[in-house]
Amino acid sequence: MQIEEGKITTKNGNEYVLRSPEKDDAEAVLAFRRDVAGESAYLTRYPYEIENSPEKEGEIIGNYLRAEHLIMIGIFDGNRVIGVTSVSPVGLNFKTRHRASAEIVVRKEFWNLGLGTHLLEKAIKYAGELGYERLELSVFADNARALRLYKNKGFVDCGQIPQAFKTMDGNYHDEILMTKNLWRF
Ligand SMILES: CC(C)(COP(=O)(O)OP(=O)(O)OC[C@H]1O[C@@H](n2cnc3c(N)ncnc32)[C@H](O)[C@@H]1OP(=O)(O)O)[C@@H](O)C(=O)NCCC(=O)NCCS
Repeated sequence: MQIEEGKITTKNGNEYVLRSPEKDDAEAVLAFRRDVAGESAYLTRYPYEIENSPEKEGEIIGNYLRAEHLIMIGIFDGNRVIGVTSVSPVGLNFKTRHRASAEIVVRKEFWNLGLGTHLLEKAIKYAGELGYERLELSVFADNARALRLYKNKGFVDCGQIPQAFKTMDGNYHDEILMTKNLWRF
């Protein structure tokens, strides 16, 4: 789906554009994905594992724009992507299609300015409007910033997978699964 373009203001008063990425943003989205994969230890891919061509990324963005059950929202500083959230179904079969999972990522230089909160609020709003009943997130257990953000917005822990992530330094990190009920009552 395509969301209506809007503006958001950070805690320090800067204004950015919030909109669905278009196919022409493919290069900017890829640059964002590679940069953030290098900046944060808490994403599931290393930069070299971001392998899509701009054409492939453009196709993915096109799918998100067309499909009524998919949401991708970017925060833009001009043409530069500084934050992304996406929402997709956990499964397409009857028994799981009421559940969606979300990703939230912000460039490091913009952390702690409220952008993650803006993105999560939008993910919750649009996931609810699309009819999803639960929104789920997966978090490295030592990612205190993300855990704080998700708990602030009403997500609860629903399980922990020991040693779910193995990093190149030889360490393991548990995964915390979080979920929020989107019902309006
Ligand atoms: C997690 C992430 C999306 C948060 O984005 P953000 O724009 O910094 O989020 P916000 O500024 O809206 O909120 C951050 C919250 O964490 C708090 N925080 C900051 N540092 C913290 C720390 N070390 N420990 C606990 N809380 C912390 C902030 O105070 C704020 O909470 P508050 O609103 O109650 O004051 C961002 O850090 C990011 O993209 N990280 C890398 C990728 C990632 O981890 N994504 C999540 C994968 S599940």
